[in-house]
Amino acid sequence: MLAKVQSCAVIGLEGALVEVEVDISNGLAAFNVVGLPDAAINESRERVRSAIKNCGCLFPYKRITANLAPADLRKEGPAYDLPIAIGVLLASGQINPEKSIDECLFLGELSLDGSLRHTNGILPMVALACEKRVNIVFVPADDAMEASLLRGVTIYPVETLGQLIAHLNGERLIEPFIPDPRILENIDQVAYGQDMAAVRGQEHVKRALEVAASGAHNILMSGPPGSGKTLLARSMPSILPRMIIEESLDVTKIYSVSGMLPSDMPLVLQRPFRSPHHTISHAGLVGGGRIPRPGEISLAHRGVLFLDELPEFGQNVLEVMRQPLEDKVVTISRAQGTITYPANFMLVASMNPCPCGFFGDPVRECSCSASSIMRYQKRISGPLLDRIDIHIEVPRVDYEKLADKRNAEDSKTIRIRVQEARERQLQRFSGTKMTCNAEMGPSEVRDFCKTDASGERLLKAAMQQLHLSARAYHRVLKLARTIADLAGNEEIMANHVAEAVQYRPRVGM
Ligand SMILES: Nc1ncnc2c1ncn2[C@@H]1O[C@H](COP(=O)(O)OP(=O)(O)OP(=O)(O)O)[C@@H](O)[C@H]1O
Ligand SMILES: [Mg+2]
Repeated sequence: MLAKVQSCAVIGLEGALVEVEVDISNGLAAFNVVGLPDAAINESRERVRSAIKNCGCLFPYKRITANLAPADLRKEGPAYDLPIAIGVLLASGQINPEKSIDECLFLGELSLDGSLRHTNGILPMVALACEKRVNIVFVPADDAMEASLLRGVTIYPVETLGQLIAHLNGERLIEPFIPDPRILENIDQVAYGQDMAAVRGQEHVKRALEVAASGAHNILMSGPPGSGKTLLARSMPSILPRMIIEESLDVTKIYSVSGMLPSDMPLVLQRPFRSPHHTISHAGLVGGGRIPRPGEISLAHRGVLFLDELPEFGQNVLEVMRQPLEDKVVTISRAQGTITYPANFMLVASMNPCPCGFFGDPVRECSCSASSIMRYQKRISGPLLDRIDIHIEVPRVDYEKLADKRNAEDSKTIRIRVQEARERQLQRFSGTKMTCNAEMGPSEVRDFCKTDASGERLLKAAMQQLHLSARAYHRVLKLARTIADLAGNEEIMANHVAEAVQYRPRVGM
């Protein structure tokens, strides 16, 4: 007998329907899975066999073939255990569904005793169900909360295979999962760790970070050791604007596929802050691997990627970021096709100006030779620097500032201003996929970055004197747009352009 069950594959972050066909025929007893399965799916045979036996059913001693269609799509991971088991039970007549199961999607990994385990990537799969109008989705009970983030489909939380069999046979029904509406309402209640108030002095750096956070611009901090660069960067999450719900769901999908969602909180509310160590590999940074995984730049999607000690990162590793920094997505080519992950992150980097760290310091003398300073600074290529809108120096803080008892501005006050600037951007881009100024393309720059006459003049002078590239010109305009948004101005004025221009690096570009 032949049975068909619907399931789902995840390629990158997109779901794709997979039909699991199970045929049982007479002949030598065997259990084969065909249709480009990976090792985890081949092992699924053993799990399915044990789970069926341990939930009190009979595993047919016949020739069983499970086909995962379409055959040209490579399937990975253990999410097919449940549909294969249901297929075997249907084909052997041990389940006689009361209602048709054509409109149902089955997802989940089985354990040997027949219970369902947490499965990665449930959210993108449910998103596909919504899109394809598959109305009912059976998921492991542990993942029901994650699955219920999307409305429009009925989610059944399944604890064990036995429970699902009873449900399908109409003997004991499983209650549909009722989503907790508070999850989406809690979006404001995020706890922040490090506060900007703890950083003494460095007001100009805080201002630059505020501008960067408002429009999601890239920023590079440079200064002597111990001046507070790492401290400032680690305080960044506390001044970032809230994520809108679409952003939250986007980020949650990435974390779901990577298996990094906390079990008690299925929705990522806080913008990610990733700070990989400089020994990170290519694949670790941009994604990839045998079973493809999103890299750090995708895990930092809609948030911050903090690269501390930038020159210490391998040069090749940094160069692979050039394309994603521009396109906001990363495409990984593999033998079986390409995978695209979103990578719309804001780069925050820090570095010392030279190997000893004191080049340009007014107090301590730098002990590096001119050539070693050159070599050190050359580790970061011009094209990468050109993609960084804000270059800011973080000088040493003097005793008076450090010992000052007065409280510095706290993160909450800064965050309110950042949030207001972001709201203006959201309004500007409403109806489009864009959410912030950094995402503008050339045509949006033309439409939205209008400068007044004096701003225009200043920009022209800056272009000529600083030899700005075309990219730098657009980036200055986008940055000026954010500065004007922070000031609440519709038109970009000379002082906004001036601030944006002084954030460009002084040499070369
Ligand atoms: N502006 C500051 N206000 C208060 N504390 C500071 C400040 N700058 C530095 N510190 C203190 O110095 C410590 C080291 O600072 P941090 O790690 O941020 O320096 P850094 O600039 O990243 O140095 P390096 O270049 O060596 O990485 C902090 O943990 C903090 O205790
Ligand atoms: Mg540091």
